[in-house]
Amino acid sequence: MPTNPRKKLIAANWKMYKTPDEAVAFIKAFLPLAAPHSHAEVVLCASPTLLPAVVDVARHHPIRVAAQDMHWLDQGAYTGETSPLMLMALGVTHVLIGHSERRQYFNETDESVNLKLKSALAHGLIPIVCVGELLAEREANQTAEVLERQTSIALSGIDPAAAAPLVIAYEPVWAIGTGRTATPEIANEAHNIIRAQIAKSLSPALAASTRILYGGSVKPDNTATLCACRDIDGALVGGASLDPVSFAKIVANSAA
Ligand code: PGA
Repeated sequence: MPTNPRKKLIAANWKMYKTPDEAVAFIKAFLPLAAPHSHAEVVLCASPTLLPAVVDVARHHPIRVAAQDMHWLDQGAYTGETSPLMLMALGVTHVLIGHSERRQYFNETDESVNLKLKSALAHGLIPIVCVGELLAEREANQTAEVLERQTSIALSGIDPAAAAPLVIAYEPVWAIGTGRTATPEIANEAHNIIRAQIAKSLSPALAASTRILYGGSVKPDNTATLCACRDIDGALVGGASLDPVSFAKIVANSAA
């Protein structure tokens, strides 16, 4: 079997945790632990209030910084929102789009994910688009349908020539924050479905080069088996990314 040519990407999703001081302390503790692991790109997805401090400490290190969401417009009367121009001005390089918590609690739709994805690509932000089925959908055998719908609407109208930076994260909603990780077989099968949809929506070449991360109760002790799967190109990590030692172990174990 040919080896996976895609560089691993390990992203920490800090959600609504940490103050700027705590974020800086995390990075200072994490850097020496993660330094020997150049096989993977590391991205920290932080709340808007942390971004200036995180960008500042990460600046001279191989750590990239992501917002957890953004509006698709450059500016306007949208109280509480953050625009791609604001993120770019801070030195943010990546943005999470369509996390299931945004879909579940903040009315994120497949259509708004599509608008945000187009905007991120147009502004040179690297998008990490999250897709994933609910437990009820898996139990009703609708997983493939849900993943194809979420992926195809997200990618609708995207110019394949501009889509090279795209990253997708498969996060089965039933595995997020529950301690219930998808088995490597379940995750790899879902990644195959997503990759086939990228081939249809964009091109077979982009399907082969696009990184698809797994997310949902990733821990230091399940990272290696997940990341050894042919179609898993890294991880999006919530709870286990809050502690620098745990997150550094995940980065190390993803080398498989
Ligand atoms: P978890 O969260 O690792 O705590 O399950 C993952 C995510 O929501 O991105």
